[in-house]
Amino acid sequence: METKRTRWYKDAVFYQIYPRSFCDSNGDGIGDIQGIISKLDYLQDLGINAVWLSPIYASPNDDNGYDISDYRQIMPEFGTLDDFKEMVAEMKKRDIKLVMDLVVNHTSDEHFWFQESKKSLDNPYRDYYIWKKGKGKKGKKAPNNWTSRFTGSAWEYDETTDEFYLHLYSKKQPDLNWENPKVRQEVIDICEYWFNLGVDGFRCDVISCISKNQDFPDGKFNFVLRGDEHFTLGPRIHEFLNELFEKSWGLHDSMIVAEAIGCGHKDAPDLIGESRRELDTMITFELMEVDMLMNFLPVKFNLKKFKKVQRAWQELPADCWPTLYYENHDQPRSVSRYGNGGIYKKQLAQMLAVSYMMLRGTPYVYQGQEIGMSNIKLKDEEYQDIASIKVFEMVKKYFRPIMPIARKVLAKRARDNARTPMQWTSGPNAGFTTGTPWMKINPNFADRNVADQQKNPNSELNFYKKLIAFRKGNEVIRDGSFVEYFPNSKKIYCFERALEHKKYLVICNFKEESINVNVDLLGFKGAKLVMSNYAKQDEILGDAIRLGVYEAVIYEMDNTVEEQ
Ligand code: GLC
Ligand code: CA
Repeated sequence: METKRTRWYKDAVFYQIYPRSFCDSNGDGIGDIQGIISKLDYLQDLGINAVWLSPIYASPNDDNGYDISDYRQIMPEFGTLDDFKEMVAEMKKRDIKLVMDLVVNHTSDEHFWFQESKKSLDNPYRDYYIWKKGKGKKGKKAPNNWTSRFTGSAWEYDETTDEFYLHLYSKKQPDLNWENPKVRQEVIDICEYWFNLGVDGFRCDVISCISKNQDFPDGKFNFVLRGDEHFTLGPRIHEFLNELFEKSWGLHDSMIVAEAIGCGHKDAPDLIGESRRELDTMITFELMEVDMLMNFLPVKFNLKKFKKVQRAWQELPADCWPTLYYENHDQPRSVSRYGNGGIYKKQLAQMLAVSYMMLRGTPYVYQGQEIGMSNIKLKDEEYQDIASIKVFEMVKKYFRPIMPIARKVLAKRARDNARTPMQWTSGPNAGFTTGTPWMKINPNFADRNVADQQKNPNSELNFYKKLIAFRKGNEVIRDGSFVEYFPNSKKIYCFERALEHKKYLVICNFKEESINVNVDLLGFKGAKLVMSNYAKQDEILGDAIRLGVYEAVIYEMDNTVEEQ
């Protein structure tokens, strides 16, 4: 019988764990499952009630676990299946849901399926992947001009059978052939396997790219990325997602969130509308693209554009549920991106928290965001991420003179920024490990760490805690309407959330300067201050308000009181 889907995720605040960098329990310098277990009390105390766990499956780690060699095994560096079971049980005790990463656009080239597939043209696993004859007289030219997201051609030649295979990411991440029903059945079986072990859902990695145009035409010209239009939301995407929903996802009280790369709010109704029976929610890059050119180059942050993207997601049809996030393991740190920390770095981190957590949707806090962790300065050889390493390789090979520019771009954009170990204490190695950390720790851990912030009632951490508690069970924040004020302002983000007799006015100052805001026409006169990242208390709103640097305020108006 079909389980009722309760859509529990509408009441969830997620915490994303990037296991390699979270907490190391055995001193090998690599975060692991026992490390996660040791921090579950911390997460419970923070008030989150769901975890998205980046991949912990067996993997040769070409892309830190996003290249899976066995979907049913745990990476030995992270622990065992018994550790995993223990973690699930400990999470259940604390009412924390677990959403696992599902990376099935591609596997590792070390997966058994690929090892078989490459052996011969008639191997039973040949059609698990996308093989094509090369072009040119000798057949040694790539089948088309598609590029990998990690630079270079998306095709790799393999001598054994004199054919090329497709890889939208590294050559150690061959793309699966979703046209093959056996592949789709394997994915269903994998989902069922983890559901049976107690997981509550999946974050589906680059799932918008699983259906490829079977003519494999050349992509339109673009310096960096080519081919996108032939595999993003490809011809059979909705059919494939619906099949997974009917045969697995929809049979459980689950949450399925897509990493819908290349998609935007306009694609949302078809992918996440409840009646579609495909996905529950989606993560897109629209907000991330506001201060980015060609998916990578940093450009100046523009609050007006930023707000416009958020507004589009807030105004989606009622049966579409948004995802709210500023950070993850692929993005730079928000405090380094959306402001100049300086002496106001605490206020900045807290203001950013209010600016997205008061919106409609499911918020995600990425590990370390709650203590305001920031970008890191690295030397060339200290970069660990394959994407950064590939950029350096390419620039060195073809455009050496622009190395200084490449360095600047990577300093801002590199995924390494998000992957430095979690800063737990001011002690050795930030309390992350007793050994040598796999990646450089941000030296600012001495004055930016969990232990110190726990002691300080006004810290970023304690502010996050208050805000999460405020959000929990609050129907106005979950179900209320959204109205934005001053949409053209490049300084403040101001909006109202309202449900029946109750409403909130949220004002966030994104500027490193104080500012006066005239609020007399917004209908909030007499509203009381319920949250502020400055030491204000019990204030009643008049006609105007003065906000300090990076100040955020929430005012509440409850009309039932007046009616009585
Ligand atoms: C997603 C992941 C990223 C990974 C890529 C390939 O974008 O978030 O970390 O490199 O997919 O799996
Ligand atoms: Ca370890």
